[in-house]
Amino acid sequence: MEVRLDNLSKHFPGVKGAPVVKAVDQMNFTIPDGKLVGLLGPSGCGKSTTLYMIAGLHKPTAGKIWFGDRDVTDVPPENRGIGLVFQNYALYPHFTVRQNITFPLENVRPKLEKTEMEQIAQEVANLVDIGNLLDRLPKQLSGGQQQRVAIARALSKRPQVLLLDEPLSNLDARLRLQTREEIRRIQRDTKVTTIFVTHDQEEAMSISDFIVVMRRGVVHQIDAPQTVYEEPVNLFVAKFLGSPAINIFDGELKNGRVLLHGNVYHKGLTSKGKFDFFDERIYDVAVEGGYNGTKADYFTSLGVEYVEEEPVVVEEEPKKKGIKEFFAKLAPKKKHKFVPKVIEGEVNLESIYEAIVGGGYRMTYGDFEEEVGKFIVEAGADRDVKIGVRPEAFTLDKNENPAIDVEVLYIEHIGRDITIVANVVGQKHRIRVIIPAEERHKVKDKVIKVYPKRFYLFDIDGSRIL
Ligand SMILES: Nc1ncnc2c1ncn2[C@@H]1O[C@H](COP(=O)(O)OP(=O)(O)OP(=O)(O)O)[C@@H](O)[C@H]1O
Ligand SMILES: [Mg+2]
Repeated sequence: MEVRLDNLSKHFPGVKGAPVVKAVDQMNFTIPDGKLVGLLGPSGCGKSTTLYMIAGLHKPTAGKIWFGDRDVTDVPPENRGIGLVFQNYALYPHFTVRQNITFPLENVRPKLEKTEMEQIAQEVANLVDIGNLLDRLPKQLSGGQQQRVAIARALSKRPQVLLLDEPLSNLDARLRLQTREEIRRIQRDTKVTTIFVTHDQEEAMSISDFIVVMRRGVVHQIDAPQTVYEEPVNLFVAKFLGSPAINIFDGELKNGRVLLHGNVYHKGLTSKGKFDFFDERIYDVAVEGGYNGTKADYFTSLGVEYVEEEPVVVEEEPKKKGIKEFFAKLAPKKKHKFVPKVIEGEVNLESIYEAIVGGGYRMTYGDFEEEVGKFIVEAGADRDVKIGVRPEAFTLDKNENPAIDVEVLYIEHIGRDITIVANVVGQKHRIRVIIPAEERHKVKDKVIKVYPKRFYLFDIDGSRIL
């Protein structure tokens, strides 16, 4: 069964005046019939919310869900033909495995004979390899076996869509590997369209036909696992996939050239002069992230005075009783008692960040840089950029790409490879370089040159340049 999400959104009202949570925002994607799709992203990015909307447990704020040609947006969960498995197995403790598996079949109409139900239980139990455990109680099973009972139960009504929400996260490392292979096998055997939620990139990479990478309720990339790894659309995706993570270097875009310590990494980008850090849009970004100060406070931080525009005086007579409220409305709103910290020295992204963090801004520097980066990119100004190199994409041999000087801290041995852990000379980044163990002898000095065989270029807003 093909599953299609059409502009699907779920917004939760903010608690105690907090802003609305856009758990899922205008999501669009199609899962082809019979495929296994991994929904991947950091905690809180909206994976479960998406799954529960597909299951019918959450009503979307907007958008539609299609199963094939059927619009199921308003169809109750029990009529959608889905099987759902949660992270904690949620088995009935006083039921045997057999009863747990047949339970969803009790309300199938027309009613099934007991022998029919038991036959189905045996079939799906065999499928997940617990066919000999049907008379046991859940507490007499291991975690992996319990999870397989939950999967068998989800399969018992022959769902057209199987939804799995972090089904392996309660299992130990070995069982997790084993059960994930089994889920893959079961999926191939049954050809049921499956959506598998995980925040573990390796799990998603190994099990999925396609990966949907999400962040803060928004889809960033949908592709085959290898493509997401090799051709990430932006810095977030590049960093989220791969272990050890991609190495990042600070470069700068100056007069149309991307430089790292004076070495040219790219020519031919346009850039013109400096970005104006007094741009009011930075204030909006600050407020969006929780900054408590008024606009006047904010500009005081930057060392300039902000003059509020004269409020327009409304002609009509204020009502007797409401006179205070009337004038209160005209007065500019003071948000909080807050003493702005005035930036000493240069006004730049880092100093602005320091100032707004002091005033209640809650996001990381990276997030701030990315948000403001959108305007900086739009302005086409000279700016910082990031150069990304996967740990395995280095060589110690000179090649056409410019060298990067790194200071070796220590060396780790993993199987047939070694990992050089190093600091980038002149930068605050620590990197990992994976090379074959035979090349260990090439690491002679404290400071060595490493050469990317392949690199990515990212803009200050995280988008991929090259
Ligand atoms: N019922 C709710 N009311 C308000 N906010 C909610 C509700 N359910 C989820 N959220 C918020 O929506 C966002 C997405 O939550 P969701 O559970 O979908 O994340 P997730 O990707 O499954 O995370 P995890 O990996 O931690 O399970 C979060 O910010 C969460 O706090
Ligand atoms: Mg979740």
